[in-house]
Amino acid sequence: MDKIPHPLSVIWTGEHLRLLDQRKLPIETVYLDLFTPEEVWDAIYTLVVRGAPAIGIAAAYGLYLGIAQVEDEAAFWKKLKHVADYLNSARPTAVNLSWALKRVQEKVEQQKGQPLAQLKAAVLAEARAIHDEDAEMCRRIGENLLTLLHDGMGILTHCNAGGLATAAYGTALAPIYLAKEKGWNIKVFADETRPVLQGARLTAYELQQAGVDVTLICDNMAGVVMKQGWVQAVIVGTDRVAANGDVANKIGTYSVAVLAKEHGIPFYVAAPTSSIDLHTPSGDQIPIEERPAEEIIAGFGKQTAPSAIKVFNPAFDVTPAKYITAIVTEKGIIRAPFEKGLQEHVSK
Ligand code: MRU
Repeated sequence: MDKIPHPLSVIWTGEHLRLLDQRKLPIETVYLDLFTPEEVWDAIYTLVVRGAPAIGIAAAYGLYLGIAQVEDEAAFWKKLKHVADYLNSARPTAVNLSWALKRVQEKVEQQKGQPLAQLKAAVLAEARAIHDEDAEMCRRIGENLLTLLHDGMGILTHCNAGGLATAAYGTALAPIYLAKEKGWNIKVFADETRPVLQGARLTAYELQQAGVDVTLICDNMAGVVMKQGWVQAVIVGTDRVAANGDVANKIGTYSVAVLAKEHGIPFYVAAPTSSIDLHTPSGDQIPIEERPAEEIIAGFGKQTAPSAIKVFNPAFDVTPAKYITAIVTEKGIIRAPFEKGLQEHVSK
């Protein structure tokens, strides 16, 4: 994959952060220039940047923006912790956010005692390393997933775990780009993904840009498409994999997994190892973000429900490990029993 078939979600200009405003896609391609951690927090919370790996990368740069102006070492260490905790509070479910912030902090702690300029440079260097490594990780996830696929398949995906959700290529969509490169004929069914429509606005858009055969369906059509025999695999991304193999991903993923099992269709989860959280024993302990009722009552400015109606709007759900055929990372393929496989995998 030499050519990246979609606009980049995260750009470091050398001095500040530039984020593709994903709320405006697919109508407009607009970049926002960010200079402070407050702006980065807001961009993560309001979904300017979204997708587990991309928010981790953005937060790591946000941490640098937070310490770039401090003038003495005592202030540096205080600010580093304060800004990391603050950015970590933007969204709770994707573990990549805390993973990236922790990784930067740990790296710079190894340099304690060095001049202030060197400490600041270490923060930026680690943010850049996380950014650069992500594209390579996605490519390897794609290669590993491709070994489970074949020419002529139908693949259903939910939400957007594509290039827009990562530094490049995506996780769940990476094998689709590789298959396209090989000249395979893959037909993708993209769930629109209520309530914020990441499938319709982002997955359908980036696959169409890449010339992939993609059909958009409403979330409640997944069952019928499977029953027709049009889907031979489901591939989704994840925000957090618990130690027992339960997987949090965009709301609606659980229903797709149950449907896939009923139809005998393999259900694959694409996950960089940065999404594996061995400190969370099972899906029951994964914090699930709840988002404002307006997303459902008046999504995109058009009211479609009575005002002040009671709303339940979790942004994610947990798919129990028993519905998952394999979890595929940049290091390889993990199958049940997941507990053992995940542990071995992380320490590889
Ligand atoms: O609310 P979002 O758009 O951040 O949710 C994104 C997802 O659920 C993705 O599937 C997940 O983060 C994996 S992205 C490679």
